[in-house]
Order: sequence, then C-alpha cells, then structure tokens
Amino acid sequence: MEVKRISGALGAEILGVDLGGDLADETVAAIRRAFLEHLVVFFHDQPLTPAQFMAFARRMGKPIEYPLVKGIAGFPEVIEVKKLEHERHNFGGLWHSDTAYLENPPMGSMLLAREVPPYGGDTEFANQYGAYETLSEGMRKLLDGLVAINASTKADATRTREDRMKEQGHETRQFLAEHPVVRTHPETGRKALYVNVGHTVRFKDMTEEESAPLLEFLYRHQVRPELTCRFRWRVGSLAFWDNRCTQHNPLNDYHGHRRVMHRITLSGDKPR
Ligand code: SIN
Repeated sequence: MEVKRISGALGAEILGVDLGGDLADETVAAIRRAFLEHLVVFFHDQPLTPAQFMAFARRMGKPIEYPLVKGIAGFPEVIEVKKLEHERHNFGGLWHSDTAYLENPPMGSMLLAREVPPYGGDTEFANQYGAYETLSEGMRKLLDGLVAINASTKADATRTREDRMKEQGHETRQFLAEHPVVRTHPETGRKALYVNVGHTVRFKDMTEEESAPLLEFLYRHQVRPELTCRFRWRVGSLAFWDNRCTQHNPLNDYHGHRRVMHRITLSGDKPR
C-alpha cells in the first residue's frame, strides 16, 4: 500500500489496495492511520457493489442513516448524491461539515463515484486544524470559550438538497445542535475550528446580527486556498473524510451533465 499526499494542507491518495477484497487487519489499521494523518484519503478504481461498500465502511466505523434523504433500495445507510442533466443545484453544494446540526455529528463520510461528468464536479476539502492554528493567539483564546448554534434549515444548504428530497425525502423537521466553536479531536487530541457556513447560525447567547461579522470572517478564513486540496473524481474513486477536522465543498461547474455518487455516513461523538 502506498500513501501519496496531494497537497500541502491535507489529502492523500492510497494506492495498491482492493477495497472490495477481504482486508487484513493491518491494512485497515494503515488506512486508519493515513486517514488520521491526512484528514481525507482517496482511492481509485474501486467499483464496489453497495454490499462491498457497506462492508468497507463497517471496517472503518459504524454506518448510520442520513437524516434528510432515504437510502437506496436494500441499503438504508447508502444515499445517492446526484445531480441530473436538467438540475441546477448540487447536493451539499457549499462549504460544510456534514450534519453539524446533529447532537452527535458523524465521525466521517465516504463517497464513491458511480457516474462523473466529462469535466468539473471536483470536491474541495479544507483543513480545520490548520484553520484554527493559523489564527492569532488572541482570536484563538476568544473562540475557545464560544459555543455555536447549528441548524439544518439555513436557506443556502436547504436549496442544495431540494431535488433529492423531492425524490427521496426523509425527515422534514428542523434539527438544531449547540457545539463548541473549537472542538478537540477525540483521537488526535488536536483542536479544530468547528463552524461552517452551511449550518452555523449564530453564537450561543448572541443574536444572528451580533454573530455575523465574526462568523463571516471565520467562514472566509477557514477555506483559504492554502488550507485546501481539490479532488478530481473518476468512476470508482472513493473519498473518506474526517468530518471532525475538515470541511468540503462540491463544485457545481458541470450543468447539463450527470454526476452520481453513493455516500455512507459514519457515526461520531458529541463534539467537545
Ligand atoms: C456531500 O456533501 O456529501 C457531497 C459531496 C460531493 O458531492 O462531492
């Protein structure tokens, strides 16, 4: 197995592994180490059946159902993330950390490319340890004590799910959760910035108007180009990201073409 970094900030490709096969415990441990070190890992040429995809996901964590969109037939934990030729919005099409509006947001997510457009549809990722560590000491001290309110109903995020919810809608209620603005990763012990433009509404005990200037600064800061990597998908590419210390942003630059992915979400802890 070979691990090749793809940028200075985060992300590595893992070569020489067949995720559809029976993975040895040492291989699983090596993938896990690469995931913790590089924050998001990518594999190519993995044409996994949904059952094989689930089997790999189970080696890495505990698959859970996504609250807002139903799973594919026979696999409630596998959702289809797709944009069709006539659609304009792409699912999750803004910078976010997955379902930060849940009490226990997921540890990670996996995305497997089934159909890709002839160009575009890349996904960007941003390192949120780096986002925290590159703030001034004064700003870090200020943020260390703050709590943020995260909601499932921010308009820009809701719009990106509308097409899929019409087809496969699940829950319609609002999810709301309070989380520390700076969380400590339960496995690495490192601190990461944990607000995101997709789901964070305001700071606790402050109004939206009062919160906006600082949140807007953080939203810009946390996705500065030098904190990011960008992944070009092929059919059979699989990405596995750590939701506790990254954000991602799928680019919507392929109107008129299809992009179809399967996604599995893995259970996580309450942020602390
Ligand atoms: C998502 O947020 O799960 C979608 C990511 C992507 O389509 O690249």
